[in-house]
Amino acid sequence: MGPADLERLVKGLDLYTDERTLLGVGDDAGVYVYGGHVFVHTVDFITPVVNDPYLWGAISTANSLSDVYAMGGKPLNALAIVGFNNCELDVGLLREVMRGCADKLREAKTVLLGGHTVDDKEPKFGLAVMGVCPSGKFLSQEGAKPGELLAITKPVGVGILTKAIKEGMLTERDIQDAVGYMLMLNDRASELALHVEASACTDTTGFGLLGHAYNIARRSKVRLSIKFSKVPVYEESVFFVKRKLYPKGAMENYNFIKENLINEGLDWWQLLLLTDPITSGGLLFTFSEEKRQELDKKAQELGINVWVIGRVEEGEGLRVC
Ligand code: CO
Ligand code: CO
Ligand code: CO
Repeated sequence: MGPADLERLVKGLDLYTDERTLLGVGDDAGVYVYGGHVFVHTVDFITPVVNDPYLWGAISTANSLSDVYAMGGKPLNALAIVGFNNCELDVGLLREVMRGCADKLREAKTVLLGGHTVDDKEPKFGLAVMGVCPSGKFLSQEGAKPGELLAITKPVGVGILTKAIKEGMLTERDIQDAVGYMLMLNDRASELALHVEASACTDTTGFGLLGHAYNIARRSKVRLSIKFSKVPVYEESVFFVKRKLYPKGAMENYNFIKENLINEGLDWWQLLLLTDPITSGGLLFTFSEEKRQELDKKAQELGINVWVIGRVEEGEGLRVC
């Protein structure tokens, strides 16, 4: 079974398409060309990951914009999607969510054009975003080649931390590092991926590092090999996952990819860290080994972190060691 992603839901349907569609359902965003401009369209919304509504609004906004950056695009405008229960929750909270969104959109130089609110028991917030690829070039999940390296731009393990917050075992203040990363736009990471001419790129979100790595492997028809010791993880996530505190999504994600995974000696808790659902995670991309030094140089120039966590091999699926 696995997650009910849209690609699966529309498989075999006679969807209308036209010659302007460069990339349809299945990647981080759709790509559509019109009047010589290459546009990128995406939508994403999430339930609260932190208690502070302002932070949640800002994080969700960064998360929604991320799919445009994953395609190598620049966001232009957005529409808000809001699920909220007026009877149970104070509208003031929602104002705070929107204030967080407004600040993040300003940082991303993205215009809010409108949106839609709906009555919903569990709050949800996100954006549909339209972006553009100024050079006409875009990144997708296809194109990784054997021999290349695999890099990521933010640590993993944030799902475990937000679970610990929901259980009252941590507060936002305990995970400032992770909140900082969730708030961070992937604009510079996108610039980095474009700079090293990434062959395949995606952002890391709900399917966890391995789920998103698997998407690249599947679409590029290669195997991705990941070295656990090279993967950046939050210290507190290790602490909690070893004590069996992790979101159920981590296990679901693991079950989804396990048949396509060669595990060379990782413990259960290490695997769960790699499948832990991520919110507003970093970009995951493959690139030529020749650009290795260029990668570090450019990342430093941009003021962001990047970790090389594995490589691309012949074959299919994933290998972890
Ligand atoms: Co994505
Ligand atoms: Co997304
Ligand atoms: Co409406």
